[in-house]
Amino acid sequence: MLRIPGPGSRTPDDVVIGPLDLAARVDEALAVQAEAFGLSADEVTVRRQIVLRHITYPGARALGAFTRDGRLVGFVYGMPNDRTHWWSTVVQPYLRARGHDTWLDDSFVITELHVLPAYQNRGIGRALITRITDEADEPRSILSAIDIDSPARGLYFSLGYEDLARQVLFPSAPKPYAVMGAHLPLRR
Ligand SMILES: CC(C)(COP(=O)(O)OP(=O)(O)OC[C@H]1O[C@@H](n2cnc3c(N)ncnc32)[C@H](O)[C@@H]1OP(=O)(O)O)[C@@H](O)C(=O)NCCC(=O)NCCS
Repeated sequence: MLRIPGPGSRTPDDVVIGPLDLAARVDEALAVQAEAFGLSADEVTVRRQIVLRHITYPGARALGAFTRDGRLVGFVYGMPNDRTHWWSTVVQPYLRARGHDTWLDDSFVITELHVLPAYQNRGIGRALITRITDEADEPRSILSAIDIDSPARGLYFSLGYEDLARQVLFPSAPKPYAVMGAHLPLRR
């Protein structure tokens, strides 16, 4: 069932940013991620369980970008970092080696950010990440992105994120990642 989005900020293309019930719309969100990021059917199945677990974590929140008829065209979700979470345990030795270990405390983690290709480059990704971090209680934000020059990395740099570690290897991920951090609020 489609949910009519509540009042929210409006991007130039009349796409509304608002709260996303990720548990109810996990399959739509993963369809967006599969198209934007490239996920196989098997990867979608694995991610589905991970997302449904993530959204039970304290402080986990999601925002969606919706067309006027309620179609999901982008989303972001994240949560306050917890050093016991899998992602945090993987990146911690890399951050410690660079003297950035304390970024794992009091940080809001951006876990996923994806926009359908047909809707990219219109400010939707920027609106999603800016709004979710504006609503965070933490003074800073961290995330990981594939360690290449990409629109995602370009967006994060433009918002004030800096590299905290490079060439970070996640088990089962073939490509190395960069871990990035920014003080909040994000740069406008
Ligand atoms: C990353 C992503 C979410 C950005 O969403 P978006 O709605 O297209 O981004 P916006 O339009 O808000 O912002 C575009 C910004 O990205 C950056 N950007 C866009 N295209 C770029 C490119 N080819 N090279 C470098 N930077 C680029 C710029 O900083 C640009 O800012 P500007 O508009 O001031 O020039 C989107 O590209 C995406 O879904 N990519 C595939 C999935 C992915 O990589 N997700 C992130 C995982 S870490």
